[in-house]
Amino acid sequence: MPQAALRLALHLALLVVLVWMVQEAVAGADLVTELRDASGRWSLYLLLLSLCFTPVTRLRPAWRVYIPLRRVTGLWAFAFACVHVLVWISLEFAFDWRGMWQEIVGNLFIWLGIISFALLKVLAASSNRKAQRWRGYQYWRFIHTLIYPALGMALGHYFMAQKLPEWQPMLLISVFIVLLVWRWRYAD
Ligand code: HEM
Repeated sequence: MPQAALRLALHLALLVVLVWMVQEAVAGADLVTELRDASGRWSLYLLLLSLCFTPVTRLRPAWRVYIPLRRVTGLWAFAFACVHVLVWISLEFAFDWRGMWQEIVGNLFIWLGIISFALLKVLAASSNRKAQRWRGYQYWRFIHTLIYPALGMALGHYFMAQKLPEWQPMLLISVFIVLLVWRWRYAD
């Protein structure tokens, strides 16, 4: 399949996920919680997936044709994070900025989410060719290592969101650690 068609197929598939997510939340018992949590989780899945492209293509060089999908994956991770944050601002707090501030102050869990979101915004804004040329490739590559602190903080945020120990955050954190170790040992 040509690369443009592959990218389009992934865009459409993730759009379907978003529509399905909204539909499930609307049909469910608690729209705000379901939409907020599902969008946060999907953002994490896609961030982790975007980090898998390099190790997988090292193992299977023929799969390098799929590398352009990494940008689509990353942009959708940011889109889901935007849905997550917008649900919090609009549906959960109804734009009550004072209420939000009271929630934020002294709350490490929320701070991790905010810093992670700010880093994801930088990554999304610098994901095009113009940004790559702006200060040269090396600088652009450095900016893109921000994915690691952004993801680490988002995973900490996910872990802290659980009232009881759950297997899913532990699984995602384990995948992240494996990817970090791989990068430290094998990436150039
Ligand atoms: C301004 C930034 C953010 C705010 C204010 C925020 C807020 C929240 C809140 C209020 C919850 C629910 C906690 C609870 O259950 O009591 C939550 C959960 C969560 N957030 Fe965020 N968040 C932010 C950024 C992020 C980002 C950037 C990500 C992912 C990249 C993320 C992923 C998640 C996940 C996975 C959950 C848990 C979902 C679950 O329990 O199934 N959040 N967040």
